[in-house]
Amino acid sequence: MKRIAVLVSGGGTNLQALIDAKGRGEIPNGVFAAVISSSPDAYALTRAANAGIPTFVVNRRDYSSNREMTVALTALLREQGIDLVVLAGFMYILTDELVQAYPNAIINVHPALIPSFCGAGCYGLHVHEKALAYGVKVSGATVHFVSEDCDGGPIILQKAVEILPGDTPEVLQRRIMEQAEWKLLPRAVSLFCDGKLQVDGRIVSILD
Ligand code: GAR
Repeated sequence: MKRIAVLVSGGGTNLQALIDAKGRGEIPNGVFAAVISSSPDAYALTRAANAGIPTFVVNRRDYSSNREMTVALTALLREQGIDLVVLAGFMYILTDELVQAYPNAIINVHPALIPSFCGAGCYGLHVHEKALAYGVKVSGATVHFVSEDCDGGPIILQKAVEILPGDTPEVLQRRIMEQAEWKLLPRAVSLFCDGKLQVDGRIVSILD
């Protein structure tokens, strides 16, 4: 059984999708061992507590830099015996210390088709504002392994979602969550826990 930690900063709808998938028996080889929030007020913490998952807060305000926060976070993950780290709406860029401790064992969900609308400063609603301002007709979601390069790690799964006339960033965000993020993230986590993701450089193969 892989021990999974989910890192969150806000509402936690992707965390909820993971909890629900586990409840339906779709992640048989993984257990949610910790939910760690960058803020004590994140609603995601309530979702975790309701599901009986141990919660922790690593508050960005208690550290002078992202690096210091990452070192504390990495120590906590090690203490909890974590095998897989899932970034589910985690809003800080984590530094190399975490990537080196968990090579090809950190999974992020991004609300666009990488390499479009990604990188530093492109998170949450900003991603959808940029996609709409650019005028693209499809966007979507990407689940990928985290590397030292922000949003640049090997891609595991992607799904395209149509942009419709009159879309606002909020409407588009919701459609991408419903049609793509909430499906892709549990699937990727399940594949990881089953040992079915093989990484060769940038290329991720899904084993039968
Ligand atoms: C999600 O759309 C997620 O893809 C995005 O933040 C939202 C969090 O929602 N993540 C990023 O933009 C990371 N670059 P949630 O807290 O309801 O899961």
